[in-house]
Amino acid sequence: MCGIVGFIGSEPAAPLLLAGLARLEYRGYDSAGLAVYDSERGLQLAKAKGRLKVLSDIVDGGKSIHGTAGVGHTRWATHGEPSDANSHPHLSDSGKIAVVHNGIIENYMEIKEYLTAHGVVFHSDTDTEVVAQLLEYYYKGDIVEATYKVLHRIQGSYALGIVCADNPDQLVAARKDSPLVLGYGQGCSFLASDVTALIKYTKTVSYMEDGELAILTRDGIQVYDQLNCPVEKEKSTVDWDISDAEKGGYEHFMFKEIMEQPEAYRKAAFPRIKNDRVELEDLNLEEDFIRQLSRIYVVACGSSYHVGVVGKYLMEKMLRRPVEVALASEFRYASPIVDEHSLVVVISQSGETLDTMAALREAKRLGAKTLAIVNVVGSSIAKEADSVLYTWAGPEIAVATTKAYSTQLVVLTLLGLHFAQVMGTLPQEEIAEVLHQIRLIPTKMEEILSRTADIQYFASQYFNHESIFFIGRNLDYAMGLEGSLKLKEISYIHSEAYAAGELKHGTISLIEPGTLVIALATYAPLFEKDVSNVIEVKSRGATVLGLTTWQMAEELRKHTDTLIAIPDTHPLLLPSLAVVPLQLFAYYVALQRGCDIDKPRNLAKSVTVE
Ligand code: AGP
Repeated sequence: MCGIVGFIGSEPAAPLLLAGLARLEYRGYDSAGLAVYDSERGLQLAKAKGRLKVLSDIVDGGKSIHGTAGVGHTRWATHGEPSDANSHPHLSDSGKIAVVHNGIIENYMEIKEYLTAHGVVFHSDTDTEVVAQLLEYYYKGDIVEATYKVLHRIQGSYALGIVCADNPDQLVAARKDSPLVLGYGQGCSFLASDVTALIKYTKTVSYMEDGELAILTRDGIQVYDQLNCPVEKEKSTVDWDISDAEKGGYEHFMFKEIMEQPEAYRKAAFPRIKNDRVELEDLNLEEDFIRQLSRIYVVACGSSYHVGVVGKYLMEKMLRRPVEVALASEFRYASPIVDEHSLVVVISQSGETLDTMAALREAKRLGAKTLAIVNVVGSSIAKEADSVLYTWAGPEIAVATTKAYSTQLVVLTLLGLHFAQVMGTLPQEEIAEVLHQIRLIPTKMEEILSRTADIQYFASQYFNHESIFFIGRNLDYAMGLEGSLKLKEISYIHSEAYAAGELKHGTISLIEPGTLVIALATYAPLFEKDVSNVIEVKSRGATVLGLTTWQMAEELRKHTDTLIAIPDTHPLLLPSLAVVPLQLFAYYVALQRGCDIDKPRNLAKSVTVE
């Protein structure tokens, strides 16, 4: 949600800011803008509701805006509707100071009333404008000093990018609870919400911490802490390439990312398997703590939560310890029962999801140990958790997660196997067998991905259904949740996932002739029961698309209208394969319906509001 880009150097800033904003489009936005300083023209501002293209047309691709220092922003509306006036950057009353902001200023009303009483006139409904106006209120010739005063006054979350016409050779940035990355170039410096915006220009970055303020100049970047003391930032090199964040010939990022899953899975899993054992070198948990674990929570949102649902089934089987899976937005208000023998595992692709971050903080407050499974290196959740396991999936641009889901799943599985090793709850031979099967998963994924045409054909048969049900039991139910979310978020088809045994307790009343039911029946121990549920819905007129393994395909085919079969694997790993055709089905249905697949309506990639 919302994206910030900043640049100071010797090239024209506007085209570069537009290019950076284009890379941040995936985060979700409804308007965009930029402010660039030029010695002749002063601060030039352009902003517009709608897609970035609207802004780009207004400024002729950046050519009509002059200057080599500026900030840009994509806004996802929270305070004030999407409109030109509410778009960022916001200017102070005199037009001297421009501000872009991600986050929410919680006490903005009180500050707005105070400034209004002092004669300041506001031009938008946003919380951000108070930052620009307050900066000017405090400004006495030194923008850094004014920024510190503002930071002491505002409450809430923020990533700020500031340009001041009186201090044109610097940009100022500040962060609290909203990410900001600093980029180091030759004779230039960059600022961005995430590295995708600056990877084309530099791979040398550092991540701002909460409470830090940065001054960016053409000669470098100096960072200060809350007390204005200089901070020596650790620089890191981004280890992926610009091509990872481009479509590379694919029509959509989502499809590219689906196809990248075998490789992403290899990268996430294989280095952590050594001599038939799981080795999590980056895991920072004492073995004694693991042995004494009384309860594990898995807490996350959306698809990451669905990984947790699979994880509950897997880990309870492996560990014989209670594993609770909780939606992050519910967890902290539910009086969770955690103590020093509890582990709270939070899962997040972006590492910035506010609900997940809040749950993590609550878990820490209650005395639990926390472990984060995160994709984005250096993200806020990764920094705050006691221990981090990265998924190493590379940048995921499509709003609908695919490769991040698959890598989260295998990392959580490896975590469960590691705990089983330490606790001694699974025989070593079984652990070795699961690890052997994990090594085969990428090739089996490739087999499924070589038959996309079959799934495309099914999608062409079913894309005009307006309501689709997913049913399954146990791990198949967990898969249904993810299949259903994928479908609804990108195709806008109403869809629900039910535990198949629950059908007769209510949902079956919705089945009528022609209703499409996707029956997941990959888990052999419950296959017979799955078949009974398929017969139940068939006898009420449903059209059934079945999903099972090669071994059981012939039997399920007798009861379904169409069938997708996936390779057999260890039962604990079935979800890693079953999810792939479900992703493809959602993708092709959305394609048939002409939906904006990579940027579905109303959704953002990283959800940084509660
Ligand atoms: C998945 O396709 C969704 N876009 C969404 O449910 C997502 O998984 C959720 O918002 C959590 O995001 P996170 O993994 O970045 O925390």
